[in-house]
Amino acid sequence: MSTKKCVNKGYCLCSDSDILSVESILPFLHKKETAGKIHIYGSLESTNKTAKEMAICGAEHGTIIIADYQVAGKGRFNRSFFSPPGHGIYLSLILRPVQLHLLSNSTLITSYAAVSVCEAIETTTEKTPKIKWINDIYLNGKKICGILTEAVTNFETGSMQWIVVGIGINFTVPTGGFPHDIKYKADAVFSDSIPNITRNRLIAEIINRMLVFEESQSDSKLILSKYRKRLMMLGEKVIINGQNEPYEATAIDIDEAGHLIVQKDNGEVLTLAAGEISICIQQGLDPA
Ligand code: BTN
Repeated sequence: MSTKKCVNKGYCLCSDSDILSVESILPFLHKKETAGKIHIYGSLESTNKTAKEMAICGAEHGTIIIADYQVAGKGRFNRSFFSPPGHGIYLSLILRPVQLHLLSNSTLITSYAAVSVCEAIETTTEKTPKIKWINDIYLNGKKICGILTEAVTNFETGSMQWIVVGIGINFTVPTGGFPHDIKYKADAVFSDSIPNITRNRLIAEIINRMLVFEESQSDSKLILSKYRKRLMMLGEKVIINGQNEPYEATAIDIDEAGHLIVQKDNGEVLTLAAGEISICIQQGLDPA
């Protein structure tokens, strides 16, 4: 990792030392053999798309696809995910169901991914990100990371064939800032400070956590307690946008499956699954 003297800032990482590479991720990996399953690309349409294609062609459990940028990064609700070169982490992980024998709902893996990203950031920086149900990571009230989990089930048996967990992180603010449509709600892990780590280091920390999901999934209580601890909306008024008219409610808790429990003003208590629901916390946040 190279350093240079920055004016008034002491020593900092040179941005040209933050080129994504397996060699630079390897020293931080707990299981060194994982390196053989990491595929890094300069650009891709979408790492999730490539991961799904590779999964169909038989890619093994734990295969990881990373791109420096995506030309058609995909978000939830068919939105696009802004993925410029040199400033983000765009990573998709293939998980196969043989190893996911205990997984009964895909919400748990998404919750686990959100906790993994938070822990990876907390371990390597002094920052304390929060989670917005169900899968967005926020810092200082703005979104720095989105997670898109896609699963394919066998039509005949109904069993899950594979899962792709896609993680998109704004690491630094892109040159010229964020595009107009997201500039008031998007931010980066390092928006106001010079990175003290490289993207490679953060990627390794995320991979280390994601690849022990097999062992961790049986303790869903622990996963959800780590998730709940970081959840930013409990006790707050939220607006729920589902298939019907949006309505207002108070976020109360998450249940043992990671579903959000809300209470309407008339006292009615509802349990929300991720599906097609988006939530905005009142005080002017757009749904995300
Ligand atoms: C969201 O915020 O709606 C989810 C965004 C998920 C973005 C990531 S970036 C890596 C992976 N590839 C994609 O095309 N999407 C996910």
